[in-house]
Amino acid sequence: MPLQSFRLTLRFVLPLALVLGLFAYAVVPLVDSLTLRWFVRDLDARSQSLANALQDPLLEYVPQHSERRIGQLFDRALRDERLHAIGFCDPAGNLLYKTSTYPSTLGCRGAGHGGALQSLVTLPQGPLHVSESALERDGQSIGKLVLVHDMSFIERRSADTKKYVIGLFAVIAIVTSLITVFIAHLSWRDWVSSVKRVLRGEFGVRPQQQSPQSESHPFEGDLRALLHEFNVERRTRDDSTHLWTPEKLRVLLHEELAGDEVLVVSNREPYLHMRTRNGIEVQRPASGLVTAVEPVMRACSGTWIAHGSGSADKESVDRNDRVPVPPNNPAYTLRRVWLSREEEKGYYYGFANEGLWPLCHIAHVRPVFRSSDWEQYVAVNQRFADAVVKEARTDDPVVLVQDYHFALLPRMVRDALPKATIITFWHIPWSNPESFGICPWREEILEGLLGSTILGFHTPFHCKNFLETVDRYLETRIEHEASTISFGGKLTQVEHYPISIAWPEQMHDQPGIEECRISVREEHGLPADHLLGIGVDRLDYTKGILERFQAVERMLEAHSNLVGKFTMIQIAAPSRSSLEEYQNFEARVRAMVQRINARFGSGNYQPIILKAEHHDADQVNRYFRAAEVCMVTSLHDGMNLVAKEYIAARDDERGVLVLSQFTGAARELHEALLVNPYHIEQSAESLYRAVTMPEVEQRDRMRSMRSLVKDFNIYRWAGRMLLDAARLRQRERIMTRIRSHSRQSLRRVV
Ligand code: G6P
Repeated sequence: MPLQSFRLTLRFVLPLALVLGLFAYAVVPLVDSLTLRWFVRDLDARSQSLANALQDPLLEYVPQHSERRIGQLFDRALRDERLHAIGFCDPAGNLLYKTSTYPSTLGCRGAGHGGALQSLVTLPQGPLHVSESALERDGQSIGKLVLVHDMSFIERRSADTKKYVIGLFAVIAIVTSLITVFIAHLSWRDWVSSVKRVLRGEFGVRPQQQSPQSESHPFEGDLRALLHEFNVERRTRDDSTHLWTPEKLRVLLHEELAGDEVLVVSNREPYLHMRTRNGIEVQRPASGLVTAVEPVMRACSGTWIAHGSGSADKESVDRNDRVPVPPNNPAYTLRRVWLSREEEKGYYYGFANEGLWPLCHIAHVRPVFRSSDWEQYVAVNQRFADAVVKEARTDDPVVLVQDYHFALLPRMVRDALPKATIITFWHIPWSNPESFGICPWREEILEGLLGSTILGFHTPFHCKNFLETVDRYLETRIEHEASTISFGGKLTQVEHYPISIAWPEQMHDQPGIEECRISVREEHGLPADHLLGIGVDRLDYTKGILERFQAVERMLEAHSNLVGKFTMIQIAAPSRSSLEEYQNFEARVRAMVQRINARFGSGNYQPIILKAEHHDADQVNRYFRAAEVCMVTSLHDGMNLVAKEYIAARDDERGVLVLSQFTGAARELHEALLVNPYHIEQSAESLYRAVTMPEVEQRDRMRSMRSLVKDFNIYRWAGRMLLDAARLRQRERIMTRIRSHSRQSLRRVV
């Protein structure tokens, strides 16, 4: 028996022996006094009946003084082995007759009395039971009969009883110990072999004769509980103390996920090759998603699969539709997928941007759902899933699926590569179950997303909305504490990972703040002390651009001293412009700018400068560094990275951020001036407060926000997801073994 088994046995046997010993110690005296009482009572009764039997002969012989006959009578009675002696005393207390065994020290004790008297006396020859019975004739005492019983036999019997009791307890102790040892040994062996099987990965293989109800089931229960705890612990662990860097992310990927393969899937590509008058130019799109994920890909390498939408994209790829990027310093591969006009119309413009986009952003634009769009959406998701499978060099790649364009792809990839780690990130908000419920294909979308290992949102609120939506429309098992959904035997972790940017360590490659201030003002014909606001968005109705302009108008109304002194520069990248909704929106924006400029502008002065064209990151940075205030007034936004980019650009710790409370960023950037963009007066006052804010206050606020964005950077976003994926992969492996183990056990019983 192994040492552990022996220890286990001792742990049972020692307390048992102790308890039994204590029990015996308490019980033996009790048994002793009980048996004594029974024997004395027995002797009392015997003495009484013997006295009765002797009474008549004595009443006859005593008056006759017949010593011989009395002697014979006494001798006959003495044949009873327990009767030790007999004596007869006259009423005066003289011992008239006695057997030779009568103890001389006993004599005749006390005067005569009526009835019978029993007592115990201890003489040198041992303990004696003495019974005295009065003899009367015609109401007159003629003496008393003394019967003396030897009690030493009681001691002998009591000693025997003690021996039996102790012996009995010893036998009980030995038998119980043996049974305990036997059971402990069997249990230990089963536990050990269960653990060994788990470690060897043979959890399903069990000895033939054991039933599923055997002792290893508590072990499985423990294991499940342990995994549950582990999951909850994982969620509460704060890893914010480490600064996440590209290097740290790389190490994590290789050590924790043993992944030399990362595949990203998104609709928007990180680099577009565009045909221009000057030849082919490379452009970076205006997309928060691309801003965030690109640095992660640079750190991790791998392949990014996206729609090739640039006008010169096809000319720039190899025969496998691949192109190394970034163009100047390649770090990963961009694999382009080509879409026909029909596909793009139905999948991208139709279902994704006329259906899901307004559905998830509560911006009061009605979603449009067409069956033909849905069909294209399904088909294009499948095409991208096929591309993932084709690009994967192993059967368990790490696949990072991006955004609402690919709600069905996680399940499609899961079906083709069951061992893949699929991390899906939903970059836009998730609405409540009622709002989401109007989507005619809500179940399909939810099922598709639940093909993911991890499903990420920006905020806990969006996670909660998603869990509630799944709860409402699908049959699943949801563990709210651990934030997991079990569907079709697969587990999906739903977690919030607030997205961020790559923190620029130094801005030395950027022009200095003063230089930016001067050059931007000069470019627009503005004096050096002119106050500037900046807004950077796609021309999208969710961004609150109209509300922002109304706030500028209201501020100029309320603070006329700022007319001619303040200008809002709005960089608005054209977006989804073939959709009517976006065309109308652009028209409204332009009209409003015209109206406000007509109202407050004069000469060269325009309160709003609309720059509705593409700007690259360096150009945008110049504006950020030149402006006193940045306005982010989205009506609803998953995160909004413009807010974080403005903060990163202000290494002079100056400038103020006016931020919509309906952005994910508002949950982190508490030192911004938070506004409700629908409340025009409030936004106007916040804008005024921003342009007049003392420098000390600007510095305090900006410093605090900079430190947060620096720590909670994009590497942390990706790192936390990858870490969680690694843990979940491990958990899933163990759970699979537990399940297959239970199935096998059940089959054997059946
Ligand atoms: C949002 C979406 C992204 C998208 C970006 C630009 O940020 O979450 O997925 O790339 O808008 O939109 P576009 O339609 O031009 O890609």
